[in-house]
Amino acid sequence: MFSLRHKTPLAWAHNAILDMDALLLDHAACERKAAAMGMSFVVKYPDRLEIIDPLIHFAREELEHFQQVCRLLVRRGLVLDHDEPDRYVNLLHKKVRTGRDERFLDRLVVAAVIEARGTERLGLVTDVLEDPELKALYRRLTRAEDRHKDLFLDLATHYFEPAAISDRLSYFLDEEAIAIQAVPFRSAIH
Ligand SMILES: [Fe+2]
Ligand SMILES: [Fe+2]
Repeated sequence: MFSLRHKTPLAWAHNAILDMDALLLDHAACERKAAAMGMSFVVKYPDRLEIIDPLIHFAREELEHFQQVCRLLVRRGLVLDHDEPDRYVNLLHKKVRTGRDERFLDRLVVAAVIEARGTERLGLVTDVLEDPELKALYRRLTRAEDRHKDLFLDLATHYFEPAAISDRLSYFLDEEAIAIQAVPFRSAIH
């Protein structure tokens, strides 16, 4: 269990839902990228056997979220767009160390903090939405996301000492607070 070091103001969510179509398109991209991120661990670290099954499960779950948001996009007549680089995610990835083990630990920790931020922001969107169908979808997705932030840290405990994990977690929580405040409020998850 850990807490983010910068709390998103509710004004962010009020701003984000002003253009619900843009938010849904960005959200769909986030779910798809989360699934791809889970699978990239499996591909890059096939010898870390403890992560294989949980992260395939994770990727499937994120892909299901992608499918749910995509179905909604289609019903709204929206078409998925080309990927925009995610500045927030890139700022965090820049801080990941080189070296096989260092990189593995940092990537797990970065995944945990990104999941934590996603959970926080989907929760805020749930709070401010009025449309009952959208609100129910976002509530379901927030609950599902809430399990993900601890998953990556739990996986790290199979390979790293608790002190090493908490040291990097503290580092990335500071970096994450900087990164999330560096991106402007817009109709996007971050
Ligand atoms: Fe998700
Ligand atoms: Fe997630």
